[in-house]
Amino acid sequence: MLLDTALPTIAPTPTIAPAPTPEAAPTRTASPRSYLMCRPEYFTVSYAINPFMNPDAPTDTARALRQWDALVGVYRGLGHEVAFLGPVPGLVDMVFAANGGFTVDGRAYVASFAHPERRAEADSFRAWFAAHGFETHEPASVNEGEGDFAFAGGVILAGHGFRSSAESHTELARVFGREVLSLRLVDERFYHLDVALTVLDSEAIDGPARIAYLPSAFDEAGRALLADRFPDSILVSEEEAAILALNSVSDGRNVVVAQDAHDYIAALAAAGYTPVPVDLSELLKSGGGVKCVSQELRR
Ligand code: ARG
Repeated sequence: MLLDTALPTIAPTPTIAPAPTPEAAPTRTASPRSYLMCRPEYFTVSYAINPFMNPDAPTDTARALRQWDALVGVYRGLGHEVAFLGPVPGLVDMVFAANGGFTVDGRAYVASFAHPERRAEADSFRAWFAAHGFETHEPASVNEGEGDFAFAGGVILAGHGFRSSAESHTELARVFGREVLSLRLVDERFYHLDVALTVLDSEAIDGPARIAYLPSAFDEAGRALLADRFPDSILVSEEEAAILALNSVSDGRNVVVAQDAHDYIAALAAAGYTPVPVDLSELLKSGGGVKCVSQELRR
């Protein structure tokens, strides 16, 4: 009902514009996922291998543990399975489990870390993949696993420029027998693909994928390729990417995301996703967020 004209005391409203009809957001479908995670028992920042890290600034391991435990609870609440890799004393970055490898179709391509500080982590990941039924592939080239590789609708998106080598992309194509879209990262703050781009929908079977990304993190060829292959993307601002908004994890519907990424959260909701905000501010001190601590296992 609009105005009740029978009530003379109500001043007429000058114009009653019909409420804009919101474009119906598509219904998104979640699918159960499996993540490999490593509890941050030894987490701290004791060296600097990315611009976020300052070894002189204090870290709070107990706080990191609480935030990480809460994330595990979020995944379980969404119906996802979480597998755990045992942390190793002294390996302070091992919580960033995404970097330990990349799995598709039951095959695991093991990481070969760019920086000596992290190299020993690869042994734990290799052993875990082998013990859990993955066909394990030893890398010949430097690569940081799901930090730089993403699975999107049957194709593999692969970053290089700071950590993973371009050569690792050739290996990826051989190991997985899938198309690899090679993307060069150009801004050192966005040193891994998973801080510059999120896969929002990726069917287990080949199908359309939807992504969110920060265009300026890529060179011109990369931006053109992403615009061509993923025209229906959510673009994120540099300001929000810098708090690792894009380091989010989607199950096709629910997107677990840094709680301070307000614009991205609003854009996700408008596109029919269900944002699930979390606080991983302690891990941000090391340049990591939700996605960095979660390696998806695709069997
Ligand atoms: N401190 C870690 C490093 O620089 C953070 C890794 C974050 N992981 C990620 N997948 N982006 O290697």
